[in-house]
Amino acid sequence: MCGIFAYLNYLTPKSRQEVLDLLVTGLKRLEYRGYDSTGVAIDSLDNKDIIMVKRTGKVKVLEDAIQEHFSGDDYSEPVLNHVGIAHTRWATHGVPCERNSHPQRSDDGNSFVVVHNGIITNYNDVKTFLAKKGYEFESDTDTEVFAKLVHHLWKKHPNYSFRELVEQAIQQVEGAFAIAVKSKHFPGECVASRRSSPLLVAIKTRTRLAGDHIPILYGKDDKKQSSDQDADSVLPRSDSTAEFMPLEEKEVEYFFASDASAVIEHTNRVIYLEDDDVAAVRDGTLSIHRLKKSLDDPHAREITTLKMEIQQIMKGNYDYFMQKEIFEQPESVVNTMRGRVRFDGTTIVLGGIKDYIPEIKRCRRLMLIGCGTSYHSAVATRQLLEELTELPVMVELASDFLDRNTPIFRDDVCFFISQSGETADTLMALRYCKQRGALIVGITNTVGSSICRESHCGVHINAGPEIGVASTKAYTSQFISLVMFALVMSEDRLSLQQRRLEILQALSKLADQIREVLKLDSKVQELAKDLYQHKSLLIMGRGYNFATCLEGALKVKELTYMHSEGIMAGELKHGPLALVDDSMPVLMIVLRDPVYVKCMNALQQVTSRKGCPVIICEEGDEETKAFSSRHLEIPRTVDCLQGILTVIPMQLLSYHIAVLRGCDVDCPRNLAKSVTVE
Ligand code: AGP
Repeated sequence: MCGIFAYLNYLTPKSRQEVLDLLVTGLKRLEYRGYDSTGVAIDSLDNKDIIMVKRTGKVKVLEDAIQEHFSGDDYSEPVLNHVGIAHTRWATHGVPCERNSHPQRSDDGNSFVVVHNGIITNYNDVKTFLAKKGYEFESDTDTEVFAKLVHHLWKKHPNYSFRELVEQAIQQVEGAFAIAVKSKHFPGECVASRRSSPLLVAIKTRTRLAGDHIPILYGKDDKKQSSDQDADSVLPRSDSTAEFMPLEEKEVEYFFASDASAVIEHTNRVIYLEDDDVAAVRDGTLSIHRLKKSLDDPHAREITTLKMEIQQIMKGNYDYFMQKEIFEQPESVVNTMRGRVRFDGTTIVLGGIKDYIPEIKRCRRLMLIGCGTSYHSAVATRQLLEELTELPVMVELASDFLDRNTPIFRDDVCFFISQSGETADTLMALRYCKQRGALIVGITNTVGSSICRESHCGVHINAGPEIGVASTKAYTSQFISLVMFALVMSEDRLSLQQRRLEILQALSKLADQIREVLKLDSKVQELAKDLYQHKSLLIMGRGYNFATCLEGALKVKELTYMHSEGIMAGELKHGPLALVDDSMPVLMIVLRDPVYVKCMNALQQVTSRKGCPVIICEEGDEETKAFSSRHLEIPRTVDCLQGILTVIPMQLLSYHIAVLRGCDVDCPRNLAKSVTVE
């Protein structure tokens, strides 16, 4: 996944230096999406050309290069109308290097430059076509073909507007894209579009915005009727746009970004573009176009107001976003339940799915589908869902689910769990199930995300923006959201009321208990000093805590680059026990729950092979503590919620080991916050 960002000022004086600062800051907010390489493009001082600066590595490297490249007074002269575009890359086609960095260009003269997030799946065909037209390619990227395609169309249709050129180009490409395009032939204009990758437009004006909708326009631009217009590209202008007008503001600034974290410090007024929307700004006027009008198309795109606050995307007094997000969990779990769980009663209201509950109750089975940490939240809640819904519950890794062409039926209910709401494997699985008539429920943390928009209904986990690549607070909020769903489904089951009450009471104490567990931070840091130089860590548990083992092992792997494995304690004697000796680091979760005795058996199997496990156990459990000098005691809670409390020491442990090993906690190597490629 990559981050794209563009900034256009109109009748708003900004120097090129200020524009560059805005672009770099925007990239820093998007860096968690990918950080192999970066680049910017702005106008040359004479406004006749486009200058690009690109670097391999993180945004800081680019920032330093910009300081060198653009020093001097001329760049501090204010300009009334300017467009800058920027990109931070997670490599998919072509290794991370300067020539594969974005912006990618159409020709040596930088006629058209583009930044892109996604994959153009037919880029080879387009490349072959353009090569026959004489184009020579300088990068290994798929993106470059888009820049050259627009250039080719510009030569073929000299009367087309910038927006029309991009609109024609997106018809020729297949796959996923979010793009922003700039051209020296159309100074002061910017055109952006998306398909299956997120893109929003943010608007900042001195005065209140005239309206809260932007009309969707069809067909040719009024101002430029091309002599060679193609019949199929001219569509009657829909008269339904009469009540809305394109946004024509005097002094205005526009921001195009992959997500809201890059714009919230400037404005909270945003438009989430839909697939195949083409957003164009010309002479300060923003208009949104679509090629073909379909019956269910709305007449306009709404200008929404972001609820996000700037401090939510800042680190505060923490060293890393991940550390901040671990310590935010007492608040984030409360936010997930806010307005939904009434602790003075037994009712739970999930507004996003309440109309669908009767249909869900009649379903054949529940399928929980996700990747990575999101998949683990499904594993963590499966047992409770089976208990409270009395339905078969399947949990699936989205990639494997698709590989198997798993049979799906109209009376299936499929949950798609995704923090970003853009994970390609999960999105593809959603579309697979939707095509087969299943009811689609989205469990996401990102408003306006693809999974959110393509679901029939869903639950927003309200964990707040999660910037660290390693998911922490989103996991516990996904967990709670699925627990709330289980409670909703059992509302009318008399035989389950006692159990529901027990869980509701435990939920009401959860925030304080998480605070208690977080107080173990310095003890966990000491444990990390014992473990950080080892090559591997085995994490064992079962029942409600098996998911914690999987999630803890993933955290250790992705943050510390150390091997780690989550092991079902019941499987220990079937093989993994062979790994245990006096030197193999082992962590075991042994809580006073229905599988306690079996966990104690596993603990004795480990210690009898000279294993010296770290034990996570309940406060005051002297019998269990006696098996090891290293233990972490956590407050007692109801069995099905233990996984919320036991995962936190794992989050802290992986954080501290990563710091001790000198790893980049927020941006682990080779990874990205959301993997928008299959
Ligand atoms: C978790 O720490 C990882 N960042 C990764 O496994 C992640 O959970 C997975 O890619 C799914 O992301 P999503 O929740 O945004 O779909």
